[in-house]
Amino acid sequence: MSRKFYIETHGCQMNVHDSEKAASVLKRLGYEPSDESSVADLIVLNTCMVREKAARKVYTRINEIKRRKKADGQCQNTSRPVYAVMGCVAQAEAARIFDRCNDVKIVLGTQAIASLPDLLSQVDQGFDRAIDVRLSKQSDFMEIGPADRARPFVAFITITEGCNKFCSFCIVPFTRGRERSRSPQSIVDEARVLAESGYREIQLLGQNVNSYGLSPIPGNGNSGAQNLLAERAVTFAGLLERVARDSGIQRIKYTTSYPKDFTPDIVKVMDEYPNLCEWIHLPAQSGSDRVLRAMRRGYSRRDYLERISWIRGAKKDYSITGDMIVGFPGETDEDFKETLSLAAEVQYDSLYIFKYSPRPHTPAATYQDTVSEEKKSERFQQLEELQTRIQGQRYLRYLSREVEVLAAGVSARSEDDLTGHTRCNKVVNFPRNGNKLGDLVKVRIEQIHPHSLYGTSIKETASIAGTT
Ligand code: SAH
Ligand code: F3S
Repeated sequence: MSRKFYIETHGCQMNVHDSEKAASVLKRLGYEPSDESSVADLIVLNTCMVREKAARKVYTRINEIKRRKKADGQCQNTSRPVYAVMGCVAQAEAARIFDRCNDVKIVLGTQAIASLPDLLSQVDQGFDRAIDVRLSKQSDFMEIGPADRARPFVAFITITEGCNKFCSFCIVPFTRGRERSRSPQSIVDEARVLAESGYREIQLLGQNVNSYGLSPIPGNGNSGAQNLLAERAVTFAGLLERVARDSGIQRIKYTTSYPKDFTPDIVKVMDEYPNLCEWIHLPAQSGSDRVLRAMRRGYSRRDYLERISWIRGAKKDYSITGDMIVGFPGETDEDFKETLSLAAEVQYDSLYIFKYSPRPHTPAATYQDTVSEEKKSERFQQLEELQTRIQGQRYLRYLSREVEVLAAGVSARSEDDLTGHTRCNKVVNFPRNGNKLGDLVKVRIEQIHPHSLYGTSIKETASIAGTT
């Protein structure tokens, strides 16, 4: 009987995609995927460490899974299941995970997915612990086939790994290592294969996609400067153009942008190609210059607003979303007011708000003058209330408008409704009305909800790829 694996993913899209890669490796080893942890021989937890709450989750989840198994009376065979921890917590806490949790046998760093077969075979041979948390300068950018992807119509493609920015609050440069860019040709090739297999949308992923090409491309010399001179060197705008022109994919999105590296030619290319979607996620983190400096973001409020003006002045109507941190050490009421006023000025279509949480290794963790939890919660709520008002206003502009929705699933609310995202990344629900999953559907918006839109399909705008 074949062995079963269960993967649970926490954190960002990068992690979702890494889980797909791990699943692909396991399937090649003969493992079968399972949605149920209680029947699995191998339980993989893909972890996030970007905030403290997320980091602690790994230990609570292992205990929960164990408790459930015990309650089900399935605890006789102590060597099964094997627990493996991957992702950012695995990278940063490494051997400590074994100490804190006896049940974990495998710790797999962020660049070690390809080592999974070796680590499993070590455990099979009787080793009590198997670990690979090496961070290399080069990366082979593991590719997976369309069949190994979790979703049938929207696919993630990694374009850069790691980050060189070292924002003072962020643990990512420590857990994902130095930034590497993948070769443009392999990105375009992967996108083309996905288009040929019926994928409608791709999302290009990187911690800072805008610095694409400035970091080493494997096999292309070791320095960013060399890359720019090299034949294959291409900027992010150049990459977008190549993918838009050569991939045959109908919708292309990307995340995440970094204001300092966001250039006007990105907007120009997006305006030019219809398959580059109207959504830009551009995290500001704060509206106060003082705080931005302490965060080591490398741009000012004015610089940020200049980028917003490029986007607002463009030909297409872009939806702008962002991230903000409240309660960064030393953030005063005045600083926070600047954040409120920036949010009001930008008019985000949606905003992810985070309470600052000190992370190991980061400079900000040593900063004094921390903001109390109470104050953080107060500011969080205030910013959230403002954003709810802004969002309500912003969503109104979609009333009676026709939007293109990629039907990706059945609505959780009603079996008769389908759900999907627009080109500008809004969730839209609509009556099924003969449409199928995977269709790009034109929907006229009739109702506005706080985080979604509702409408009626007008007609299908495109059929499954390959049938025109
Ligand atoms: N460039 C990355 C950002 C990773 S972290 C990306 O591709 O998404 C995602 C968001 O978490 C950040 O934009 C920031 O708003 C938030 N964040 C990161 N570190 C944090 C911390 N220490 N405390 C609170 N929020 C944090
Ligand atoms: Fe983190 Fe800043 Fe990079 S937020 S991922 S260090 S751009």
